[in-house]
Amino acid sequence: MSQTTPDPAAPILMFDSGVGGLSVLDALRGVLPQAPVIYAADNAGLPYGEKTEAQIAARVSGLLGRMTERLRPRLVCIACNTASTIALASVREVLEVPIVGTVPAIKPAAAMTRSGVIGLLGTQATIRQAYVDRLEHEFARDHRLIRYGAPELVGAAEAKLRGEPVDPAAIASAINGLRAQPDGDRIDTVVLACTHFPLLTAELGAAFGPDVRFIDGAQGIARRIAFLTQGQTFARTRSDQALFTGAQGIDALTPALRLRGLEQIEVF
Ligand code: DGL
Repeated sequence: MSQTTPDPAAPILMFDSGVGGLSVLDALRGVLPQAPVIYAADNAGLPYGEKTEAQIAARVSGLLGRMTERLRPRLVCIACNTASTIALASVREVLEVPIVGTVPAIKPAAAMTRSGVIGLLGTQATIRQAYVDRLEHEFARDHRLIRYGAPELVGAAEAKLRGEPVDPAAIASAINGLRAQPDGDRIDTVVLACTHFPLLTAELGAAFGPDVRFIDGAQGIARRIAFLTQGQTFARTRSDQALFTGAQGIDALTPALRLRGLEQIEVF
């Protein structure tokens, strides 16, 4: 890890397969509003949740290697649970820049639950990871953790940010996927273990009802980035940028990106 003071204009690179990482960017803006940001979405590879571990690891390491070389960020945030739970360790081995990953918020959920039954919504790839088994064993072994892979929510979040209506069937299917499992009716806390899902908190909240609370990792990640960049100077010399690995569909995302200060939208 480099100990030199970064150039004040050096950005924080925030990476996801799609628009999910914008939920982390929203939290980061709250703690570091002055930080220059490049938001990078591997939309040509979306959805990661349906890929194999080998495909995800190769894609994420390759892309972050090229992006880091070209964009010279002061810090990389992998704002994607799927990529982090699979590739964080290997990416850290090859890149010299500090890297912050995204970890399913099982620890705070275990502290929040009263019924002792926690739901976890993630991608298919995330919910099968040993990383999640370890978090469950460490923080929730006295509770019941019910997992459900909900790829339909990834598409719903992408559609919402393109300004399209959210398919109620996608929300219902995620809820049924948790509720239909043994003890599912006792869930009072749901971990949103995919960065796309907090973009649907309003729809999920309305469908789950007032007795279920949601928790995700965004605030914790933002605080971690603020801690790792403590004492550094930030200066924006140009407007913030959003990069996509594929051109398809990005025009429709422009309003959601501009709303978050991402004014320059380009294909990487
Ligand atoms: N946003 C990603 C996550 O946090 C995954 C979405 C996908 O590409 O399947 O896991």
